[in-house]
Amino acid sequence: MFRIAYVNGRYAPFSQAMVHVEDRGYQLADGVYEVFGIIDGRLLDLDAHMERLTRSLHELEISWPMAPRALVVVVNQVVRRNRLSHGIVYVQITRGEAPRDHAFPDDGTEPSVVVTARRRPPFDLEAAKSGVAVITVPDERWKRCDIKSISLIPNVLGKQKAKKAGVYEAWMVDEKGFVTEGTSTNAWVVTDDGILVTRHLDKGILPGITRRSVLMVAEKQGIELDERPFALRDLDTVREAFLTSTTSWIKPVVEIDGRPVGDGTAGPFSLELLKLYAAYMAGAGTAR
Ligand code: PDD
Repeated sequence: MFRIAYVNGRYAPFSQAMVHVEDRGYQLADGVYEVFGIIDGRLLDLDAHMERLTRSLHELEISWPMAPRALVVVVNQVVRRNRLSHGIVYVQITRGEAPRDHAFPDDGTEPSVVVTARRRPPFDLEAAKSGVAVITVPDERWKRCDIKSISLIPNVLGKQKAKKAGVYEAWMVDEKGFVTEGTSTNAWVVTDDGILVTRHLDKGILPGITRRSVLMVAEKQGIELDERPFALRDLDTVREAFLTSTTSWIKPVVEIDGRPVGDGTAGPFSLELLKLYAAYMAGAGTAR
């Protein structure tokens, strides 16, 4: 089947979906993006993604290219035109097309908008239980990781290291020895005394939407939470670990840098959260 993309006002087959060579996204990585999860044709955590996109645009002083509600219509159109039941929608907004110059282009330069969709298998609770391995790498990113910018080189290099090592993800470690997050996921641990820990929101990590929803369901369940940094050296003593993102949902982390986490299998906290999050996705979390 043809894949259909939306590019600057037009829906087109992939082979004809093009942006200009002087798009500032292409030349300067001057743009932002969002990845929406699609479940049964519906958008997971729509409002939260739209809020984060609004914030990313604001922080980079890129104006909204259209009314936010109109973008939701486009996203739904892309879902429909690609006959997508389960998968992801990628939205990228750049500062637009202009002769290459680091400073912002003239007022009136229209931001570029690209929306694509990709089919993925639906969430599978049984498969999710098997867990993944991660390695750790130094966090070499800029100091505004809270912005969902398309400038992702350190993340790309980190993920490639993980791939080469035959593992799922690389967790990044800052100069003080604290884990920030994964290259495309948020990082979590369960401490020896049974407290669920994930780094607090600051400029060092992306405010993950899955992170937010998992925190919500955990809180509702009365699970003890602590949003604070955790150190690389503490990973040896944690009981459990997992990672979260729109594309990974929740994945138990059963091995870090070649050493097993706990007994090397998904633990009860991770399994409980997987179940709770699966119920959340099947219910309250989706909209059009
Ligand atoms: N990545 N941290 C980073 C650096 C990320 O790139 C992502 C998402 C997350 C998790 O955020 P969320 O739960 O909102 O998906 C955390 C997307 C999926 C990507 O780049 O493809």
